[in-house]
Amino acid sequence: MERTLSIIKPDGVGRGLVGEVVKRLEASNFKIAAMKMIYMTKAQAQGFYAVHRERPFFESLTDFMCSGPAVVMVLEGEDIIAKYRELMGATNYKEAAPGTIRADFATDIEKNVVHGSDAPETAAFEIGYFFNAFEITG
Ligand code: RTP
Ligand code: MG
Repeated sequence: MERTLSIIKPDGVGRGLVGEVVKRLEASNFKIAAMKMIYMTKAQAQGFYAVHRERPFFESLTDFMCSGPAVVMVLEGEDIIAKYRELMGATNYKEAAPGTIRADFATDIEKNVVHGSDAPETAAFEIGYFFNAFEITG
């Protein structure tokens, strides 16, 4: 059993893609253990993406993440980190496999609709960043 943090980023919420993303999660039989809408502050976005603070896109990425509401979810299941990343597709939508969320909906390498944790350690940090234990139905 593994958990991962999923975010429908502000471009996805703004373009009305919440239902589409949730539909794909459910069609894949992914268990949604927690879900809420948030509106990140700049500081919150900077803390979330702290691993990327030296990268040239950090300023733009953190501005984007606090440009509108986002939906954060905890997904739970066997090998869910890798399975969800497969459903999302590659970071660069031009390289994302056909049928993935990013291939179908992303418009930009930054505005790529969804986020997913990349390892158990980062998932634990990211889930704890947005949820307390009482909010995760388990
Ligand atoms: P994420 O963390 O959002 O799930 O995406 P990821 O693992 O596929 O990609 P990562 O390398 O962690 O990058 C985080 C987010 O930063 C934006 N990005 N922009 N302009 C650029 O070259 C660039 N590279 C990455 C994207 O929004 C990416 O999802
Ligand atoms: Mg990442």
